[in-house]
Amino acid sequence: MQGLRGVKIEGWGKALPERVLTNHDLEQMVDTSDEWIVSRTGIRERRVAGPETAASDLALVAAREALAKAGLDPERVDLIIVATVTPDMAFPATACLVQSALAANRAAAFDLEAGCSGFLYALAIGREFVASGTYDHVLVIGVDILSRITNWQDRNTCVLFGDGAGAVVLGPAVRGQGILSTYLGSDGSGGELLCLPAGGSRRPLAPEHMEQGLQYIHMNGPEVFKFAVRVMGEAAVKALELAGLGLDDVTYLVPHQANLRIIDAAARRLKLTSERVLVNLDRYGNMSSASIPVALAEAADAGRFRPGDILVLVGFGAGLTWGASVVRW
Ligand code: UT7
Repeated sequence: MQGLRGVKIEGWGKALPERVLTNHDLEQMVDTSDEWIVSRTGIRERRVAGPETAASDLALVAAREALAKAGLDPERVDLIIVATVTPDMAFPATACLVQSALAANRAAAFDLEAGCSGFLYALAIGREFVASGTYDHVLVIGVDILSRITNWQDRNTCVLFGDGAGAVVLGPAVRGQGILSTYLGSDGSGGELLCLPAGGSRRPLAPEHMEQGLQYIHMNGPEVFKFAVRVMGEAAVKALELAGLGLDDVTYLVPHQANLRIIDAAARRLKLTSERVLVNLDRYGNMSSASIPVALAEAADAGRFRPGDILVLVGFGAGLTWGASVVRW
């Protein structure tokens, strides 16, 4: 992108509900086993939000942490973007609820829906605003409480998901530093492979739809799997090309956390050994928009990134959508 300014990640944060749901807990709920879940997905446990917690609550915690790390007063935030498929309500936007709770009084705010690619879409948009000079500081949040839209009687899906939030603060940088490239894609012809059929204008939350369980996530796992394996590698390579970098330059892959087998396939495509791949799905499952920023925040907090490290963020999700971004730390 030919932006006038570079754009860097100035702060990061995360929020995870306290309650842990293990594979053994799930064995008591549906016909599954720890062995099946671990061998097919890599997931061992996930976090589940209590009934009093909504997306904006987790988003707020992650946002406050990111702002504190950036040393930025909420008054200085120009824009808040919340990527989510589980907003508190259809409207107002969860981003507006966060804006109010933060007292980020100068900020514009909106939600963005791009499935599990949402954080990467939001990061790309935030980057454009800062690069162009329109805004100086953009708060980008990925949050999902998938437990609310999970059918806990469907073993095909309920073992996969978890709740959480991650946030970053974007700000101006020298060109060549920070976010070096963003790449986004979509293929709406695959929309039915992963969707929430009811609750929108097509099928309102009417009793006949709810009796069929259409208020829950529906997914064709094997088809999404094939799509994900193909697109993760392709998107990462494309983002590297856009950044003028090659496979040898990559320090860490920060992938969307849906299935360890998908992540391993992407790592093989990029010729990366496992220590160069950030994985948190064993502990958190698939947190949709939150998976990538939580992985980023945890690794940053652990001091894993050194200045100049090249990170490749890459993900895919409902839409179908995909995206990737290359960041010089
Ligand atoms: O963020 C994007 C969201 N989603 C994804 O990325 C998901 C992508 N897909 C996947 O990760 C995998 O397709 C799954 C993990 C969902 C499924 O793994 P799979 O290796 O593709 O298994 P499958 O769906 O082909 O099912 C194999 C068998 C089936 O039994 P039969 O028909 O062979 O007798 C399933 O009924 O495994 C059965 N099965 C289970 N067994 C125990 C499905 N779910 C479970 C379960 N426990 N939880």
